[in-house]
This record gives sequence, C-alpha cells and structure tokens, in this order.
Amino acid sequence: MSTGAHAAAHKQSITDPTAFWGAAASGIEWVTEPTTVLDDSNPPFYRWFRGGVLNTCFNALDRHVRDGRGDQPALHYDSPVTGTTATFTYGELLERVARFAGALASLGVEKGDRVVVYMPMVPEAVVAMLACARIGAVHSVVFGGFAPAELAARIEDAEPKVIVSASCGIEPSRVVEYKPMLDGALDRSSHKPESVIVLQRPQAPAEVGVRDTEWEEMTWDEVDADAEPADCVPVEATDPLYVLYTSGTTGRPKGIVRDNGGHAVALRWSMENVYDIGPGDVWFTASDVGWVVGHSYIVYAPLLTGATTVLYEGKPVGTPDASAFWRVVSQYRCKAMFTAPTAYRAIKREDSAGELMKGYDLSCLETVFLAGERLDPDTYEWATSVLGVPVVDNWWQTETGWPIAANLRGLDPMPIKAGSPSVPVPGYDVQVLDESAHQVPPGTEGAIAIRLPLPPGTLPTLWQDDERYVASYLSVYDGYYLTGDGGMIDEDGYVYVMGRTDDVLNVAGHRLSTGSIEAALAGHPAVAECAVIGVTDDFKGQVPRGLVVLKGGVDAEADGERIRRELVQRVRDEVGAVASLKQVDIVGGLPKTRSGKILRKTMRELADGKTPVVPGTIEDVSVLDRLASVLRPEG
Ligand code: COA
Ligand code: AMP
Repeated sequence: MSTGAHAAAHKQSITDPTAFWGAAASGIEWVTEPTTVLDDSNPPFYRWFRGGVLNTCFNALDRHVRDGRGDQPALHYDSPVTGTTATFTYGELLERVARFAGALASLGVEKGDRVVVYMPMVPEAVVAMLACARIGAVHSVVFGGFAPAELAARIEDAEPKVIVSASCGIEPSRVVEYKPMLDGALDRSSHKPESVIVLQRPQAPAEVGVRDTEWEEMTWDEVDADAEPADCVPVEATDPLYVLYTSGTTGRPKGIVRDNGGHAVALRWSMENVYDIGPGDVWFTASDVGWVVGHSYIVYAPLLTGATTVLYEGKPVGTPDASAFWRVVSQYRCKAMFTAPTAYRAIKREDSAGELMKGYDLSCLETVFLAGERLDPDTYEWATSVLGVPVVDNWWQTETGWPIAANLRGLDPMPIKAGSPSVPVPGYDVQVLDESAHQVPPGTEGAIAIRLPLPPGTLPTLWQDDERYVASYLSVYDGYYLTGDGGMIDEDGYVYVMGRTDDVLNVAGHRLSTGSIEAALAGHPAVAECAVIGVTDDFKGQVPRGLVVLKGGVDAEADGERIRRELVQRVRDEVGAVASLKQVDIVGGLPKTRSGKILRKTMRELADGKTPVVPGTIEDVSVLDRLASVLRPEG
C-alpha cells in the first residue's frame, strides 16, 4: 500500500471529503462559491458544491482568453480521412462557440433544454457541446456509429429541442451518411425536435430543408452566419451539463447525468493529478466525442486545464498505416496520449516490431494512458517495450466520468503492475464484496463496489429516473454503488478488474448492450427467441455472438444461411456496424432457469472454453448439452 502522497490524499478524500474537494474547487472559477461542498442530507442522493454557481464553458474558454491564453492553440483538428488539419486558438474557439451558442439561442434553446449532438469527429462537434454549456443547455452526444434504433431511443428519452448533426462521417472503407439515419430515427421517435441543424460535409452533402417535416431543417452555415454571440449563462453547480446514454443490460440505454460543478472540479483535478497535464501542455486522446472518454478527455478536461487537445478523425491503423498515432504525437509534440487497449493491439498486429515508429521524433511523449477495457498484460508489455515510456492503465466507466483506479502520475507515480490499473483514486472508496456484502480478503475475487458517496463528477442520478438509478446501481449492496465489474484488490492495494459480471458487452472499447442487439435479432420474422453473449476475442477483447431459435415451420436447412445473413445485416442497420456481430448460430433451444431467465453467463463460459457454472435452477440441462457442441471453441 502506498504510504506517500497518494495514501494521504486518498485518506483525506474519504474521511474529510469537504476539506479535500473544497480545496480542489479552487481550480474552478465560480460566479458564486458553493455554500456546501457535500450535501448528504438526502442519501443515497448526494450532491456536490450546493449553492455554487458557475459556467463550464467560461471555465473552458473565456477564462483562459482573459488570462492571456487567447493565442495558444486550444484544439488541433487532424483528419487523415479527409486530408485536413486545422488549429483553433482559445480565442478562435471561443469566438465560434459564442456564435453557435447564439445560433442555438435564436432557435429558442434555453437553460435546461436538451440538444442532441449526432456528429463525427469534427471541430463543430466540440463547438456544439461547448455552445450548449455556454447557454446552460444540456447536450446529449450520440456516437456516430449508432444506427437509427439506438439514436431514436436516445431522442425519445432526452426530448431534445434541437438536434445538431452532420451530413456524414468518414470511415476508412466508406462514407457513412448520417442524414438518412437521423431521418430514420426521427421517424421512429414519438418526440420530434423543433429544429435540426446539419453540418454539410463535401464528402456527402445531405438534402436539407426540402422535405415536408414536422421540424425545421437548416444547415450549420445558415444558422451560424447571422447569429449574435451569446454570453455565458450562470448555472447551479448541481444543474446538468450533459446526459450521455450508455448501454445497460436491457435495450433501453441509461441516461447518465453529469452536473456542472462536480464535473468541472473533478476533471480539472484529474488532469493534473492523474494525467500530469497542466496549462499549455499538449494532450492527445484518440477516442470519439460520442463516448465518455471523448467527453472528458478530448473536450472538457484539457480545456478546463488550459491545455491543448488533439481531435483526431482517423484510426490507429489504415489511415494510412500503423504509424498514425506516432505521426500525430510527433507533429503536435504531445506530452501524453490516451486511447483504448484495442487500438494498441491493432498497431501491434500490423507493426509488432515498432518499425514504423522509427521515422518519428517521439521525445515529447512522456506517458501513454489506456482505458475503456481491460489492459491485458501482453499488450501492456508490448507497448512498454516499443515505446519506452510508462504505459498507464486506468479504470472507469461512463457513470463515473473519470478514473476510479489509476496510477496517479501527477500526484504520486507508483510502480506499475501488469494487469492492474493500480490504486483507487482519491474520492473513491473501492471495496471488493462477497454475496453477503462482506469485504473479501486481499487477493480474493468478488464484486467491485464503491462506498457512497461517490466523488464529484460522477453520476448523481439517471436522466429523469431516480428509481432506475437506485435499482440499477444502489440496490444490491446497501450504501454502495455497484460497478458491475468483478475483480480483486491485492495486498498492496492494487485493484484488478477482470470484467463485467452482468451482460454488458465491451467490444473494441465500445460499450454495447446485449439487449439492443437481441432486440434487433428478435425483430426478424423467422426468429422465435434469441440470446446474445459476449465471447472473448484476442483483438477486440470481446465480440458478440448471436444464438437464435427459429419459429416453427421455418426450414433451417433450406433458409438458414439466408436468415443468418439477414440477421447480421439487421444488427448493422439497427444498432450499427460498431456492434461487430459476425456470427449467428441457429440452435434448437436456449438454456433457461425454471423462471425463464436465459443463462447467458453459462453460455459465455462454454464459448470461452471454461467449465460452465450450471445453476441448480436450470430448466432442462439437455439444452445446454446440445449447445456445447455449437459453442465450444473446438466445437
Ligand atoms: N461511424 C460509423 N461506423 C463506425 C464508426 C463510426 N464512428 N466507428 C466504427 N464504425 C464501424 C467500422 O467502420 C466497422 O465497420 P465494418 O464492419 O464495415 O468494417 C465497424 O463499425 C466495427 O468497428 P470497430 O469495432 O471500431 O472495428 P474496426 O476493425 O473498424 O477498428 C480499431 C478496430 C481497433 C481500429 C478501432 O476499434 C479503434 O480505434 N478502437 C479504439 C477504441 C476506442 O476508441 N474506444 C473508445 C473508448 S476509449
Ligand atoms: P464505458 O462505460 O464504456 O467506459 O465502459 C466501462 C466498462 O469498461 C467498465 O465497467 C469495465 O468493464 C470496462 N473498463 C473500462 N476501463 C477498464 C480498465 N482499465 N480495465 C478493465 N476494464 C475496464
């Protein structure tokens, strides 16, 4: 166990959170200082910085311009897929954000209104997010790789006044037209926005404003050109900044709420203490603004810090090759970079000797951070040996918004142990529990839980659904937040995260729900019932696999191949290509408990070549025996 700065900070954060986070709050400029650091008057609903008034956009932009950083680059946009680059200084980004905030305001967007942002990795996505923050509107960014059904579910729940989108995104293999997907989502959704703003991209311009819609459609340029810049609107620390939907086990995504005050304080603190990035440093996060890593560490944390962020519209490989990250790091002189382990596995697969690195001056690179899925020891060892810099795993979730466990490079760098994201970050009282809610001894696996209250910046609730928040996270262990991950803590206090204990999938660092993939499969007319399981994959960590039982009368012999193809296509069309469902098996039956619960975990264990734990409540064990030959890797 660390006895240094980390131990002291962690201890204080748990025993005296008011002193700890009260001090951290000075990293943010407030319109009105908070009166109460931690409001614990209504457990299990805890609120941070009650009474505080601030504006997140002011802290991310205006403040730095006022303090002399107006000419410093705030954002480097680097897009190998379009062959463009652009740099925006803090002054320029502020100017654009203020104008687009004015454009949103002119469409009637006010404090508290929701704005859905469905965009690829373009600077306008960042502008739209910050513009919402500026006027106190609540953005809800939807990952561009999600198809209509996923987008519709988010629109339905968030009820946006305005949707901001783009005509297309660009994947190395194809141009992805967004407008038809957005139209498809709006057709499905009972909620219609008042306006849709579309950024036209030359690779595939969209038809805008020509159809007879229930809403007004216009291009970004149209609304932006005439807009008067908008000022920052002060909001309560506890007012929502954004809602980010994430996959649960059911098809209905969870709207993770992020408040303004706790978020700004926690991210600012994390940048210096976890990632060792300060004002003026250049920082490169290769993720997507549609995921939490993109929200926190492409957009908000670096800008709240006065650092320079790199917005990269490309892939680790194929744009044009496995040297893409090294080119970006050396071109912008990045002090650190952050991505998901899968990205490094992709590079390793193409350039395991690191030959492509040699042409680049990487002397600026001090640290590589990886998160989003388990960092397997092989990938860790490889990255460390080819790069020669610390490769730092950090564990967190959309719900927390910033790391739960990490090696705190700015506060107290510790020895790294392969397979562990190191120690609990200050603010998180991480414990491993058994089924009776007792802490297990060091080295013993169990459910990873966090004792309440969660620190600032984490979810205070789910969007308009306190009940689901409690049911999903707080009901299993009284007084604890259930992470959904299993793992252990060793004698030195290092946390090991082994994987989800529920049916959430993590495919190439992308979080997906079995429920929404199942809903797409179940919609096929030939399917009677189905299940989706996540099986271990050397490259993507996990990939989904579908198992379907056909309706009586459907001829599996004659039509099986066609049905399988159609099912794979349905999932691409409904959930998105990002679901990466390639394999669907037609089976005679699915194993269930006597109460009808499908035994996904048991099937997953079979598919991963493990000895499955078969619950005593299984309805018919012969179903499982028959499935074994289909599921077993050698089968
Ligand atoms: N819009 C539209 N389609 C998208 C998309 C997007 N934003 N992102 C991915 N897709 C598509 C891909 O084109 C691919 O389509 P295909 O089946 O037609 O080839 C499919 O979704 C699967 O994508 P992905 O799982 O990303 O696999 P890949 O083989 O294209 O790329 C990696 C593999 C490793 C390069 C990629 O997954 C990656 O960069 N991962 C990093 C993970 C990451 O950023 N995680 C975020 C949290 S940190
Ligand atoms: P997301 O909400 O998309 O960030 O996904 C969160 C989930 O990803 C966690 O619950 C973990 O299962 C997994 N995860 C994220 N980071 C790590 C990590 N560093 N090590 C192990 N698992 C991780």
